Amino acid sequence: MRTTEITSYFGAEGFRVLDEFLFKKKASKTFILVDENTASCIGTFSNQLAHLDSDFDILEVPSGEESKSIEVVVQLWASLLEYGADRQALLINLGGGMICDLGAFVASTYKRGISYVQVPTSLLAMVDASIGGKTGINFQGLKNQIGTFSEPDAIVIAPMFLTSLSKKEWISGHGEMIKHSLLNGSDWPAILQLEASMNIEEEIRRSVQIKSDVVSLDFKESGFRKVLNLGHTFGHAWESLMLEKGTPIPHGMAVIQGLHLALALSQQDELQKELSGKYPWEFVNEDDLTQLWTNQLADKKNQNQSVQFVLLDRLGQPTIDNPVDIKRWMDCMLLLNQKVHG
Ligand SMILES: NC(=O)c1ccc[n+]([C@@H]2O[C@H](COP(=O)([O-])OP(=O)(O)OC[C@H]3O[C@@H](n4cnc5c(N)ncnc54)[C@H](O)[C@@H]3O)[C@@H](O)[C@H]2O)c1
Repeated sequence: MRTTEITSYFGAEGFRVLDEFLFKKKASKTFILVDENTASCIGTFSNQLAHLDSDFDILEVPSGEESKSIEVVVQLWASLLEYGADRQALLINLGGGMICDLGAFVASTYKRGISYVQVPTSLLAMVDASIGGKTGINFQGLKNQIGTFSEPDAIVIAPMFLTSLSKKEWISGHGEMIKHSLLNGSDWPAILQLEASMNIEEEIRRSVQIKSDVVSLDFKESGFRKVLNLGHTFGHAWESLMLEKGTPIPHGMAVIQGLHLALALSQQDELQKELSGKYPWEFVNEDDLTQLWTNQLADKKNQNQSVQFVLLDRLGQPTIDNPVDIKRWMDCMLLLNQKVHG
């Protein structure tokens, strides 16, 4: 499947293509970047590849967003230097979106860029973070402030890694798949019926295709790519609030809450009702409304006290840059609350 310049490969075919790439590439040194949880995927991964350098070095970082930092980047640059990585070295990012973003940033900057491969192990990374060539780290408390646009040499998507993923992290990835389905119209509402116990390779493929199609039209996000922010304006505000309250939730779960609001603002009541059947709107305490509005306004793209939302004209028809003022926003928030609490 083509994204912009590169192709994503799935399952057994993915490993075959990667093995051939490893054979041809003849990297001077191979590194595998993992976090403390995805380290357990290394055995399964390496068993699939006859041409993986058996002398590969493992770079392991703590799991969690805190590792997407300049301090960890500096440590990784230092490790690459220490282990003698030259321009012909290869970095394999084996992990969730955190590892894919961090590793891609390190690879795209080390010695002006070395080869790297994305092997996403979380559902969110398979359908979203590994696709589209955005690399990045967090800076001064803000997400993805420093980064590059850079394409990997390959993306290998192997759903077998999902067996060890927690239910919450699975739902997080499902949230992004639901977003893709709303943007494109395909698989709706069947997408809502997916469960962690199912084989969802075909649905993952279609989700990847939707994101790839958007990215290929606007790689550097000068316009249309913004549709991928559907559900993210409120989603980010909700994610930050949950973090401040000491009850953090995975990104895609916050996006689901954001999708409810985007559908309500779009007056897509039927779609919002269908979404509620799978993942109901979470009641928002009225004391938190001001903080949530402020979190949304903090986004520099927002002007004149209104917040820009991606909305849907109808299923599969997103529009970008829709200004929403506090009155309209508040009405929708209260309406969604009423629907769950009568
Ligand atoms: N570059 C992009 O276009 C893009 C798009 C969306 C999200 N992102 C980024 O992706 C990150 C979120 O990705 P994520 O949700 O995968 O987070 P993550 O990488 O932190 O993974 C979530 C948790 O699941 C664990 N995990 C991953 N795979 C596992 C497996 N197979 N078995 C057991 N545990 C596993 C991780 O160790 C972690 O604890 C954020 O940093 C976000 O900014 C980037």
